[in-house]
Amino acid sequence: MDLSTVTFLFFALLISSVKAFDPCATQPDASDLSVIPIYGKCSPFTAPKSNSWVTTVIDMASKDPERVKYLSSLVGQKTTAVPIASGQQVLNTANYVVRVKLGNPGQLMFMVLDTSNDAAWVPCAGCTGCSATTFQPNTSSTYRSLDCSMTQCTQVRGLSCPETGNSACLFNQSYGGDSSLSATLVQDSLALANDVLPNFVFGCINSISGGSIPPQGLLGLGRGPMSLISQSQSLYSGVFSYCLPSFRSYYFSGSLKLGPVGQPKNIRTTPLLHNPHRPSLYYVNLTGISVGRVLVPVEPELLAFNPNTGAGTIIDSGTVITRFVPPVYTAIRDEFRKQVKGPFSSLGAFDTCFAATYEAVAPVITLHFTGMDLKLPMENSLIHSSAGSLACLSMAAAPNNVNSVLNVIANLQQQNLRMMFDEANSRLGIARELCN
Ligand SMILES: *[C@@H]1O[C@H](CO)[C@@H](O)[C@H](O)[C@H]1NC(C)=O
Ligand SMILES: *[C@@H]1O[C@H](CO)[C@@H](O)[C@H](O)[C@H]1NC(C)=O
Ligand SMILES: *[C@@H]1O[C@H](CO)[C@@H](O)[C@H](O)[C@H]1NC(C)=O
Repeated sequence: MDLSTVTFLFFALLISSVKAFDPCATQPDASDLSVIPIYGKCSPFTAPKSNSWVTTVIDMASKDPERVKYLSSLVGQKTTAVPIASGQQVLNTANYVVRVKLGNPGQLMFMVLDTSNDAAWVPCAGCTGCSATTFQPNTSSTYRSLDCSMTQCTQVRGLSCPETGNSACLFNQSYGGDSSLSATLVQDSLALANDVLPNFVFGCINSISGGSIPPQGLLGLGRGPMSLISQSQSLYSGVFSYCLPSFRSYYFSGSLKLGPVGQPKNIRTTPLLHNPHRPSLYYVNLTGISVGRVLVPVEPELLAFNPNTGAGTIIDSGTVITRFVPPVYTAIRDEFRKQVKGPFSSLGAFDTCFAATYEAVAPVITLHFTGMDLKLPMENSLIHSSAGSLACLSMAAAPNNVNSVLNVIANLQQQNLRMMFDEANSRLGIARELCN
């Protein structure tokens, strides 16, 4: 064999092994779905600019304050509202997508995951202002629209039906501050990996205005009455878990496991707390934060769960970097700075960046929850500048508005951890798992 034949064989082999190991083509087993970073290789969406990944994270994180403000604003409201309620705002935070199939035969859609939301909707054929990929109801044999008089419609609309006119269940929703959609409540089969939910209720979008609607729909994993988790109660018993891959791991995807089967057996847990004023949110009891060996001094009221004001801590998959109410963040940051020594600079939302050569002395951050401590792996508490010369503490203060009472544990801090939401036993489990 001459050299060119060898080279040819080498490349042929390389290409076939790459084909055999195409992570985008594999679906794990039965109730296990891939969770794909929205700008990762297996996602059909591309980042607006070909930024470095840290710039992409900073861009994504720049939407956090609006989301955190919104999540905190929910709390004063006395509604037990509703997933896809008319006029209810939902936020534009498309960080991870999952592949699902809607209808029969199934149509592939990449929907955004959001644990703080109960809504499910997709753009439908004929939608004004939607992107190119839409769900085609007329080719699905199991599609059905819901009449306005049905209970689900009342829940979603928050309005009674009009006396006359169309009996379809129409509703409007504002979204992300600058966008809104109008949709019809419908039903069809939803296939998640190998499982099928026969009569899944979701919104079929007829028109959108403004530019920030997730292009192929939203799949809420909240705890409210109309969420996927509630609608799949008989199949999954209110249990799911996910492992989010790092945004940096372009080629890889994490997983979403639905149902009690295959969940980790040995996992440390903390109770989930329920806020009747905001049934979608997964609250936990964060009782303290340590930086290295130092338990950071914070007033207990700044962490305490209070259903009336909404104060406390939630686990959220739609916020990018963890946000603490300003006095708590300041206390953490000051202790961190004391142990690392400066000089410190800022980068985007991060105010504590230092020469990466000092990384070895960076203290471990531990979140103390009732019954469970979470020691954050370094990659979950530090982020690097694109040149790699700076390391930054990858957390920030919540926007400092009057309503700033909510701490949000966000997805940068959850990456490469198995996060198990067990509504049946009202607990959250966390275990280390590399899913990059
Ligand atoms: C379904 O609807 C689309 C768009 O509204 C249309 O182009 C298509 O011809 C329809 N298909 C069938 C089978 O009716
Ligand atoms: C939705 O918004 C449109 C346009 O603003 C309006 O005409 C319609 O009545 C609204 N529908 C509902 C159900 O609120
Ligand atoms: C949260 O933990 C603190 C400290 O252990 C405890 O005093 C408080 O009652 C807990 N709150 C809830 C709602 O469980």
